[in-house]
Amino acid sequence: MAEEGKPHFIGRITELFEGTDHVKYFNCRWFFRSEDTVISTAKLVDDHSHDPKRVFLSDERNDNPLDCIVSKVKILQVDPKLDLEAKAQLAADNDLYYDMSYTVPYSTFENITNDINEISGISSDADSEVDTSVATATLLDLYSGCGGMSTGLCLGAALAGLKLETRWAVDFNSHACKSLKSNHPKTEVRNEKADDFLSLLKEWAVLCDQYVHDNNAEAPPSMDEEEEEGELEKDEYVVQKLTDICYGGIDRKSCIYFKLLKKVYVQFIDSFLVFSDCPLKIKEFVQEGHMRKVLPLPGDVDVLCGGPPCQGISGLNRFRNRDDPLNDDKNRQLVTFMNIVSYLRPKFVLMENVVDILQFAEGYLGRYALSRLVAMNYQSRLGIMLAGCYGLPQFRMRTFLWGALTTMVLPKHPLPTHNVVIRGGAPNAFTVGNDQADDVMEYLVKPKTEFQRYIRLSRKEMLDYSFGDKTGPGEGTLMDHCPLRLNKDDYERVKRIPFEKGANFRDLEGVRVGPNNVAEFDPEIPRVYLESGNPLVPEYAIKFRSGKSLRPFGRLWWDETVPTVVTSANPHSQRILHPSQARVLTVRENARLQGFPDYYRLDGPIKERQVYELLC
Ligand SMILES: C[S@@+](CC[C@H](N)C(=O)[O-])C[C@H]1O[C@@H](n2cnc3c(N)ncnc32)[C@H](O)[C@@H]1O
Repeated sequence: MAEEGKPHFIGRITELFEGTDHVKYFNCRWFFRSEDTVISTAKLVDDHSHDPKRVFLSDERNDNPLDCIVSKVKILQVDPKLDLEAKAQLAADNDLYYDMSYTVPYSTFENITNDINEISGISSDADSEVDTSVATATLLDLYSGCGGMSTGLCLGAALAGLKLETRWAVDFNSHACKSLKSNHPKTEVRNEKADDFLSLLKEWAVLCDQYVHDNNAEAPPSMDEEEEEGELEKDEYVVQKLTDICYGGIDRKSCIYFKLLKKVYVQFIDSFLVFSDCPLKIKEFVQEGHMRKVLPLPGDVDVLCGGPPCQGISGLNRFRNRDDPLNDDKNRQLVTFMNIVSYLRPKFVLMENVVDILQFAEGYLGRYALSRLVAMNYQSRLGIMLAGCYGLPQFRMRTFLWGALTTMVLPKHPLPTHNVVIRGGAPNAFTVGNDQADDVMEYLVKPKTEFQRYIRLSRKEMLDYSFGDKTGPGEGTLMDHCPLRLNKDDYERVKRIPFEKGANFRDLEGVRVGPNNVAEFDPEIPRVYLESGNPLVPEYAIKFRSGKSLRPFGRLWWDETVPTVVTSANPHSQRILHPSQARVLTVRENARLQGFPDYYRLDGPIKERQVYELLC
């Protein structure tokens, strides 16, 4: 019996008994409607819905007086492997149906495979064996950055004996795409917006239907017809080949563009154009692209991973939309991510995000993501993991959402392997100056810690076969070991921060720590100025977090887990100074903190490299 005006609770009676108080009781195992689960409020978002007849069996049990029982309902257990429509049809003559369990403490929706028939005695004939066989599994990395998440997944899968290959990656940052491509030459790297990528996938499926799947399609004009060259008029060109395809793009219309390799006089030029003149060329391109799987069709992707940016929930954003977070453009990528899942229907989904998606506006975005997966008939598991608990010398707490088709086994979050409190070994002891420009050098000393030994392993030793049996460019040398150059003033400040554990701007001349651990200018000491005329201790350092922070110009230390590394290598508000050198960490040191193996080369200008790598 529920509160006035609310639907009654639903449960399975597991025991009837009389208490010592002579009252009759029943023990009940509870079912949850979708709105009773953690996805609750997200159900209100109208871009998807849950079947009101679908309930989830939980492990929650308790004893209740017998007179709480209102009525009997007929609940059918259905085979989780069926699609939602088939499930609903099977359950047509029942009040409700259930196919999955719901585990309250772990926010998990998972197949029930062990007790079909228990309730109604009816079950489908479908084979309930779980199919886990995937030989070489394909991976699509959305919002890939330079490929941290997918690389980690592939390396982890290889350790577990599964060959997982990043076949496609999408990111709108061109430098990140270049980095990914240079480390994964076989990956189809799409430098475009995720929304355009989804539109492209849909158009690509139409083209494949037209030119590959439909054998009765009208034959395009013959080669001769199309390639009557003759004398070229001024501004005329001959299309040699179509080499790529995209949808929309900056300053372009929302439609398909082909990249044409054109011969103009004696020159070959390629550019993206709206093009429909030569169906034969389009046919050739589509057939070849289909064979090489340049783009995935629904069902082609085994694993889809990605961290859709949700900048609309960042604490730095003063105009956060608490009432309707999905109406904020900065959070819309979560919807795009789920739309891509819905279209491609990968076997597994792994979404990573900041923990704020579970906190902001009562966890609205986290609930929404889970709700979308469950409504798409995915098993789902939501959890938080700390990278530092798995051996990374960085704290980094993140939300991970797994989804698995009901024909698959839903992966678990791995148990922690490391103590996150103290762990050293990330920055290495090569001396690098603030203005170090040379970003490739030899390793001069042997690795000193277990972590250094591990992070220096070759591609082959890490079981990364992106280059087949060959070694990748630069492998064996120390790459990207240069820091973002500090300006003259900051360099002067950084030189004066003691090379000691816990040192920061408070150790500079003229700062004292007042009551309540608040930093302030020491009135006894005249303000010190740098050669430029600017103060040694800037106002912003004193005022940061009302003077309570230890972060401005903070030094990292050898035996500490580094706080979560953020996007800009700026020491004004973060602890990112090298323990024993007058500089911020180098691209390589940051890459190590993110877990990138040393063989992973990053492309682009230093600032870009720092930024997209730190975004992972
Ligand atoms: C947090 S980073 C992802 C890091 C990546 N998962 C890794 O492990 O290396 C987010 C990425 O999303 C990309 N991005 C943001 N909005 C995008 C959009 N609308 N379409 C495609 N990429 C986008 C950014 O360029 C950035 O590289």
